[in-house]
Amino acid sequence: MKICVLPGDGIGPEITAEAVRVLKALDLKFEMEEAQLGGCAIDAAKDPFPPATQKLAKEADAVLLGAVGGPQWDNNPRELRPESGLLRIRKDLGLFANLRPAILYPELANASTLKPEVVAGLDILIVRELTGDIYFGQPRGIEIRNGERFGFNTMHYTESEIRRILRVAFEAARKRSRKVCSVDKMNVLECTQLWRDVAKEVGKEYPDVELSHMLVDNAAMQLVKAPKQFDVVVTGNMFGDILSDEASMLTGSIGMLPSASLDEKNKGLYEPSHGSAPDIAGKGVANPLATILSVAMMLRYTFANEAAGRRIEDAVKKVLALGLRTGDIYEPGTQKVGTRAMGDAVLAAL
Ligand code: IPM
Ligand code: MG
Repeated sequence: MKICVLPGDGIGPEITAEAVRVLKALDLKFEMEEAQLGGCAIDAAKDPFPPATQKLAKEADAVLLGAVGGPQWDNNPRELRPESGLLRIRKDLGLFANLRPAILYPELANASTLKPEVVAGLDILIVRELTGDIYFGQPRGIEIRNGERFGFNTMHYTESEIRRILRVAFEAARKRSRKVCSVDKMNVLECTQLWRDVAKEVGKEYPDVELSHMLVDNAAMQLVKAPKQFDVVVTGNMFGDILSDEASMLTGSIGMLPSASLDEKNKGLYEPSHGSAPDIAGKGVANPLATILSVAMMLRYTFANEAAGRRIEDAVKKVLALGLRTGDIYEPGTQKVGTRAMGDAVLAAL
């Protein structure tokens, strides 16, 4: 069992270190090797996804990623930005299924900006298509047309791309509350008319799961109005990018949310849903729990070890119940700790 570890930029190395300690504590005989992705790789190799990283990531069964990005690379040309490395590793490994859970831990109910009765018990899974759509569509660019600058991108999906991500959503729903809401913009965009048509076809294969459809603007509204109506939400790459940020904020604690990006054989890249937080990098105060919970997802999805995944999640819950909090989830009456101390506490609870 090989794991490629990509600490990345900003707080990435600090939070990844804690997740790696948790992995080692499980005593499951993983081989781990580290490589560079994102800004650190641009600095070291002038490439956000260098060949050495490509090789390691290809050979591994799973990839653990911290976070990429930072202001020092923001003005680089597109191909030399940390985000390009992330998009390339997703495409290169065929990681088409992005699972982003938004769970509200009861101990953190006050962290949400929404009223407790609206979000209490919230447990949504956003299933985002990750290797297609306008993110990767050709043609794209900025050029001069009729004497002025003209910017363009192309949104497209094949029916097989839509079908396979819908199946991931339905399979996930079967292990949850058996509800799938497919999100599109079929009143305007042909590409997403096809999405809805295919969603309906796939829905017939899953008569035990309730399928509904929602336009993306309404979905954005419903997510803040009545988020508990959702179980699994499935949508395309761009809508999923936007809605998953929105959903994560319902919980008020993005520092708690893991994510998985899977290929057809459950090889996966696992990373926290939050970014590289350059403002607190190197200070030892970042919340490592989202990355630790990403390891739990890795055990469950790639290594089919439900028990070990649950063990980690239970350890995290125990630490929250003990009242330990990093700065991002701190409230009066709890105990503020740093990254390492939080990792120590999870190890102790394990
Ligand atoms: C995400 C991020 C990325 C995306 C960026 C960093 C390229 O926002 O994972 O949601 O848009 O997919
Ligand atoms: Mg995003």
